[in-house]
Amino acid sequence: MSVTLFSDSSPRTGRAMTELLLKLEQIDTFYGQSQVHFGVSVEVPRGEIVCLLGGNASGKSTAMKVILGLHKPRAGTVSFDGKPLNGLSTAQIVRLGIASVPEARRLFGDMKVRENLLMGAFTRKDRDGVAADYERMLEMFPRVKERLNQRAGTLSGGEQQMLAMARALMSRPALVCMDEPTMGLSPLYVDKVLEMIRAINAQGVTFFMVEQNASLALQIAHRGYVLQTGRVVLEGTSAELLGNQRIRDAYLGGALAAQTAS
Ligand SMILES: Nc1ncnc2c1ncn2[C@@H]1O[C@H](COP(=O)(O)OP(=O)(O)OP(=O)(O)O)[C@@H](O)[C@H]1O
Ligand SMILES: [Mg+2]
Repeated sequence: MSVTLFSDSSPRTGRAMTELLLKLEQIDTFYGQSQVHFGVSVEVPRGEIVCLLGGNASGKSTAMKVILGLHKPRAGTVSFDGKPLNGLSTAQIVRLGIASVPEARRLFGDMKVRENLLMGAFTRKDRDGVAADYERMLEMFPRVKERLNQRAGTLSGGEQQMLAMARALMSRPALVCMDEPTMGLSPLYVDKVLEMIRAINAQGVTFFMVEQNASLALQIAHRGYVLQTGRVVLEGTSAELLGNQRIRDAYLGGALAAQTAS
C-alpha cells in the first residue's frame, strides 16, 4: 500500500502506551437467563492481529458487542490501553480509539457512499484532520472513490466491506474490531480484504478479528483464540494453532466440538 495512514500524528488517545492494547478478563455474558460467555479472557497486544475463532453461536459476535459497549457483561472487565471500559458508552469507547466493522457491515444502505464514509468520523471535531483522512481513504480504497455518489446499498459485498473498513478507519482508531470480514465474499475480495488488513496493520493499527474461517484468519493473524460454546478452549500463535490437530479437524468437518468436549 503506497498511502501512509495517519502520518501526521500519533494515536488520538495521547496517553502513555501499554503493551497490551485490549484485554478481556473473565467475562461472563448473558442474554436474559441464557449464558453466552463463561470466564472468557483474551489479550490483544498492541500492533498485532488477533483472531477469535469459533463455530456458529459460540459467542464471537457477542464478544465484539461487549468490547464496543453494546452489550454489558455480567462479570469481568474489558480494558483498553490499560483503562477499564466499564460503564462507558459506545461513543466514548470509539473516542478512545476503538472502531468496529460489524457483522454484515451495517452500512446505511440508503445513504451515499460518501456520507457513509464521513459517518466514521462522527466522534471527531478536527475538521482538517477528517478532510485529510477522507482523501487518504479514497487513495487507499479506489473502489470506494469510484462510487462516492452511489447508494451504499447498491455496492457489491466486497465493495461494502471495503467501505466498512474505510469508514472504521475514519475514526483514526488504534484498534479495529472486525466481525467475519470475509464472510460471503468472492475469493478475489477475500484476498483483497485480507491484504488490506495486513497492510493497515503494518502501519500500526491493531486488529481484533472474529472469524469462523480459521484457515483464512490464521493466514494473517499473529495469534488466535478458539471459542467453543462461550469458553476459550485453545489459544496460541497462529503457527501453533495451524499445527494443532483439533484446529485441523475443525477445518475438515467441524469436529472441534466433539474433540474439545470434556
Ligand atoms: N440479542 C440476543 N438475544 C438473545 N440471544 C442472543 C442475542 N444475540 C445472540 N444471542 C445468542 O447468543 C449466542 C451467541 O451468539 P453470537 O452471535 O455471539 O454467536 P457467534 O459466535 O457470533 O455466531 P455466528 O458464527 O453464527 O455469527 C447464540 O446462541 C445466540 O442465539
Ligand atoms: Mg457472529
